[in-house]
Parts: sequence; structure tokens; C-alpha cells
Amino acid sequence: MRRMTVPSIQKRKGGEPIVMLTAYTARMAQLLDEHCDVLLVGDSLGQVIYGLSSTLPVTLDMMCAHGAAVVRGSYKSVVIVDMPFGSYEESPEAAFRAASRVMAETGCAAVKLEGGVAMADTIAFLTKRGIPVMAHVGLTPQAVNALGGYGARGKSQEEYARIIEDAEAVAKAGAFSLVIEGVVEDLARQITDSVSIPTIGIGASAACDGQVLVVDDMLGMFERTPRFVKRFGTLAEDIGKAASAYAAAVKDRSFPEDAQLYGVKK
Ligand code: KIV
Ligand code: NA
Repeated sequence: MRRMTVPSIQKRKGGEPIVMLTAYTARMAQLLDEHCDVLLVGDSLGQVIYGLSSTLPVTLDMMCAHGAAVVRGSYKSVVIVDMPFGSYEESPEAAFRAASRVMAETGCAAVKLEGGVAMADTIAFLTKRGIPVMAHVGLTPQAVNALGGYGARGKSQEEYARIIEDAEAVAKAGAFSLVIEGVVEDLARQITDSVSIPTIGIGASAACDGQVLVVDDMLGMFERTPRFVKRFGTLAEDIGKAASAYAAAVKDRSFPEDAQLYGVKK
């Protein structure tokens, strides 16, 4: 099967919902690939993989290494790599240098960056030069210090209106799709109705054109998750059970047994 493309995702506006999950490693990408349209190598890997307390310290090197792993592990989904904090905000030129490196080193199909009106020029610059961009508005985790936390956005009338402006600006600038994070349903619906590109929600209701979750959250791997996460699996529990059974088997010497021994006929 041929890998899906950015235009094929764009065509899903208003149609069959777009299925997106994060992935950070090759094996996980392999397991998720057939079920997803888009695999996002999110800078959430800072917390999920590296135990950092925010996404701010995530580097371009980290994104390139994990992006390449996810591309190697998948053959069908569109792979999108997050631009890390500090790699794209300064200027369109700086963003192009960083994004072109990500594209070249990973083989991904597009990059994602956070921001609305302030990033519109940069999105236009990249898009015109062959780099498809997914934008990200509402709760933008790289702005945690400016926002003062990870709470839902758009609660004041002023902020509500600003998020709509952000969404319209990135769509106009040429973003092919848009993540909306942490907003009430009404706002997500209003944006989805007003822009011609697909919206992907996370904590933003089923009114969006698709959904994304952090894969570890969805699998029940993470200890603490936001309200909008639904656990579709119990991996943390499963891993604990497996490790406990292994430890017991090592201690009572019931592992390894003949089946795992070299030189013993099966
Ligand atoms: O970094 C990430 O995982 C994300 C998604 C959750 C949208 O940006
Ligand atoms: Na991200």
C-alpha cells in the first residue's frame, strides 16, 4: 500500500474523521500504522519518553531521531513531526532551516508548529517552499509560561475571539490542517465551520474533523492524564503484572525452563 499524502488528509475536510495518534518509536509506529491516517511525532515526547516536565527543553536532534524511527516503522500513515520550542519562532528563515532539516533527516511528510496570527508569515514562507505545515491553536503547550498552565483556553470572550482569529490566520497562510487543543465544543465547532482545512481536536470535542491523543495516555501508560484523555488500554497495569511475574519466576528459578534453553530438543 502506498503511503497516504498530505492532500489526501486535506480532502477529508467534513468527511470521514481523521484518525491521528502520536508515536515516538519504530515498533509503536508499526503497531499503530494500519489503524491511523496520521502519526504525529509530538514534542510531547519530552514528557512521555524523556521525563521532562514540559516540552520546552525538547531539541531538534530529539525530534529528528524519533521522527526517523517513526517513518522507518510505518508505511501507510502520513508522518508529521513537531517543530520544537526555539527552532522556528524567530523568523521564517530560521523556521525553514529547522523544518527542512527535519524533513530531510526523517523523511516525514509535514511539520507541525504552535501558534496562530504570530506564525502566519512563517507558515506561508514554509508552505510556499514545499514544506506542508499543520498548525496548532488553543492550548499551545510550548506557551505554558505565558499562559500560566495547561488549563482550557478561550474562557474569556477576548481569548475566544483571539483563538478564532488564530485559526483563520493559519488557514489563510496555507496550513493544510490545524490541531485545536483544550477548548469548549462551541469554539471548536465554530472554527471547524469557518476554516476550509481539516481540524484535529484534542480536548476539543467531536465537532472537529479528526481526533488526536498522546498514545501513551490512550494506552493507559501515563500516571496522570488531563480530563480529555480516554484510556482505551491498560498497559501500565499489564507491564506491572508482567514484570512482577518475571521477577517471581527468576527468584524461584522457574524461568528459564527447557523451552528457552539452547541444546535441549523441543
Ligand atoms: O506533542 C503532541 O503530542 C501534540 C499533540 C498532542 C497535538 O502536539
Ligand atoms: Na506538540
